[in-house]
Amino acid sequence: DWTMEDYKNTSIKAIREKVGDGKILLALSGGVDSSVAAALLAEAVGDQLTCVFVDHGLMRKNEGDEVEEAFSKWNLNLIRMNEEDEFLAALKGLTDPEDKRKAIGAQFIRTFEKMGKEIGAKVGKVDYLAQGTIYPDVIESGKDDAAVIKSHHNVGGLPDFVDFKEIIEPLRMLFKDEVRQLGFELGLPKYLVMRQPFPGPGLGIRITGEITKEKCDILREADAIFREEIANAGLDTQINQYFAVLTNTRTVGVMGDSRTYDYALALRGVTTSDFMTADWARIPYDVLDKASSRIVNEVAGVNRIVYDITSKPPATIEWE
Ligand code: XMP
Repeated sequence: DWTMEDYKNTSIKAIREKVGDGKILLALSGGVDSSVAAALLAEAVGDQLTCVFVDHGLMRKNEGDEVEEAFSKWNLNLIRMNEEDEFLAALKGLTDPEDKRKAIGAQFIRTFEKMGKEIGAKVGKVDYLAQGTIYPDVIESGKDDAAVIKSHHNVGGLPDFVDFKEIIEPLRMLFKDEVRQLGFELGLPKYLVMRQPFPGPGLGIRITGEITKEKCDILREADAIFREEIANAGLDTQINQYFAVLTNTRTVGVMGDSRTYDYALALRGVTTSDFMTADWARIPYDVLDKASSRIVNEVAGVNRIVYDITSKPPATIEWE
């Protein structure tokens, strides 16, 4: 009988045989697939593995620190690039969703160039490039993308600066639930292994209108409260994706005796099996109520909460 422990041990052995004393590079996004791939490779080759994590300033609350913390038990080289100022500068003044997506994509490419220099200086030449490709990605890549509704950008794109021998994809044979099982087997924390999907452009597609540091901070706080309340209610494994969106609309409210004029924030939750279609999640009113009152009380700059009750289609899951 085949167990995940067997799979882990066999993979580790195969990776060691293939790589020898070579060096591996992996772009770590903090998502489930790249995290499990990183943990498996770190277990196999330790400091012959270099992982690069780009913090574009559009991450959720504490995300960068959580990723660093999760990998601190291995002796891999983790290069964290803090690029918040650069990404915010590239987004300055942009309001159109596609313009913002393109600016984020272009800034990733500039970051890859800078990353190439940093890796060269710190670890020298890299022999292998690793990716967290999983079995459904292998099947997907056969299909054509005729109807592109939004331009998708992924952090794990192929940087062209490495002069590598081969691409290593240690999760190619696994389905998502098997990847998660392997993640637990390797001792990764639940917050990485059971994580909901988070788009490459991050909060950049959850803020309508111009993106500023102030708006990112407001959204990060509100989103963290919403996620906490969903988890407290035990709904985190039932709702496939749930998050907050900061609208560009300010509305009038009253706080104590004074008038407020602050942002309206939307909460979104969906159930779906493939993210191609989705239904809005029937979150119980008391959970929505708790999240709403906590957010308006704890997050300065927000005085109104709405819940998004549209399914996909006609709406998409993300707002931009
Ligand atoms: P939509 O908004 O198109 O989202 O209904 C479907 C799923 O894809 C995610 N998404 C992205 N993921 N890069 C990504 O890596 C992107 O540019 C991107 N845009 C949307 C979204 O979070 C949802 O899970």
